[in-house]
Amino acid sequence: MLGWDELERKCRECMRCGLAKTRKNVVIGRGSKTAPVMLIGEGPGEQEDIQGKPFVGAAGKLLDLLLSALMFSDDDYYICNIVKCRPPGNRVPADDEAESCLPWLRHQTLLIRPRIMVCMGSTAVKYIIDRTARITQIRGQWIERKGFWIMPTFHPAALLRDTSKKPLMFEDMKKVKLKLAELTGASQ
Ligand code: URA
Repeated sequence: MLGWDELERKCRECMRCGLAKTRKNVVIGRGSKTAPVMLIGEGPGEQEDIQGKPFVGAAGKLLDLLLSALMFSDDDYYICNIVKCRPPGNRVPADDEAESCLPWLRHQTLLIRPRIMVCMGSTAVKYIIDRTARITQIRGQWIERKGFWIMPTFHPAALLRDTSKKPLMFEDMKKVKLKLAELTGASQ
């Protein structure tokens, strides 16, 4: 298994798909590398591509607010995406792009060994949970698989477009906070 330094170097040099040609930066992840919770989005947007960090634009600000409102600490989570390079114009990643990037994400998961994975939005749900699952049908319900607790929820960008989804994602993330306390024996 690769260590972090080698994994990050290989990701930065990756040319496995066409997104490599248009990226400014490879966006690997941010947060604690020993976190019990891994939050997974779709792919870097414009700001993420420029800064080389995931969820630093408008959707990321909302996500940070949500996490701090629920009193997650910085040590609790690691944030990353299905693809590490920005799809031009923020389009949904193509199947071949997601498939060629997923081994890097699997490697990150092996190194972090989170207890909980939060799939934010339909792309994360598609590639982590089930190709045919509908986010509106499965969000908010725990899936236990291969030793992970998986919570499907909305993508924070969807909350910016439709504010009625805010309380629903808040509810889902509250379940994550409770599960985290249950698994780690921490008081809330
Ligand atoms: N949307 C995502 O899915 N990921 C990011 O990093 C930013 C916006």
